[in-house]
Amino acid sequence: MMTRKNVLTAVIGAALTFGATASAYAATTLKLSHNHPRDHAVHQAMDAMAKEVRALTDGEVRIRIYPDAQLGTQRESMELMQNGALEMVKTNAAELEAFAPAYAAFNLPYLFRDKSHYYNVKEGEVGEEILASSRDSGFIGVTYYDAGARSFYTSKPINTPEDLKGMKIRVQPSPSAIAMVNALGGSPTPLAYGELYTALQQGVVDAAENNIPSFSLSRHGEVSKYFSLDEHTMVPDVLVISTKAYDGLSEEHREALKTASFNSMELMKKLWAESEAEERANAEKLGVTFVQPNKAAFAEAVQPMYDALESSNPELNEIVGRIQAVQ
Ligand code: GCU
Repeated sequence: MMTRKNVLTAVIGAALTFGATASAYAATTLKLSHNHPRDHAVHQAMDAMAKEVRALTDGEVRIRIYPDAQLGTQRESMELMQNGALEMVKTNAAELEAFAPAYAAFNLPYLFRDKSHYYNVKEGEVGEEILASSRDSGFIGVTYYDAGARSFYTSKPINTPEDLKGMKIRVQPSPSAIAMVNALGGSPTPLAYGELYTALQQGVVDAAENNIPSFSLSRHGEVSKYFSLDEHTMVPDVLVISTKAYDGLSEEHREALKTASFNSMELMKKLWAESEAEERANAEKLGVTFVQPNKAAFAEAVQPMYDALESSNPELNEIVGRIQAVQ
């Protein structure tokens, strides 16, 4: 088995030859890093995209997917991409906030009214603008993937924000996630996803928050027996590509990527719904109890985050207003 260091060395070595792949005969390989296992819906959606890109370009463009954080955490993968050692990363809006500020809008709790509002924003004008907003940072967004709603899980039921008082709660490295947990009275602890199982097991943190499939597939149900469906955020997953790699593709190849990524986003909606039902059942089999908390109390507790935006971050406030106006 290749160690993570060996994989990285091989990938970086291959990256050095990336510039040479533009010859008429050689295929262009785009390396894509993400942190989920192969049985996660997002891996399957991206696998379908990779196959379609290959078919549409007669094998001239190949996307090689490295799952399971083999190439590092989401943040490390973003840095590798910015340094030219990788071409694509599947991350999410929470971690992208540190690289492109407009993504912070997606991380505000109780922003979306329902699933169709969420889809209409992602697939509409504001969503497209946010994907394009990071060009100056060396990458652009290719597509969003449905990642459902995130909720708290721990060793006891969480029915109201008061139940979070004094708890160390793992959040993604995202200023909005930190602000949200503070507003709810918990104590936010930013950690990479891959470190969370051990952190929960050893009591480094008391609680975490995620969607049901990620919670279940990372086996967090073994160490957290209550999943409280407060559904505070709907943070989409995002596939990004370095501008260097994107600009290096021919017009036709870019079209192929656009078509295949759109189709994989649509496929993901179906895969996601199936995965949510299946992984909830799997978690229940493992002894996890799903709790229905008082969502209104959570929404009320985070309202100050919205009230502060107008003066603290007018640009973000404007984006949030546009999102709220989407039907
Ligand atoms: C979700 C998301 C990942 C992210 C993870 C996390 O599972 O799909 O991109 O890393 O949450 O909480 O870190």
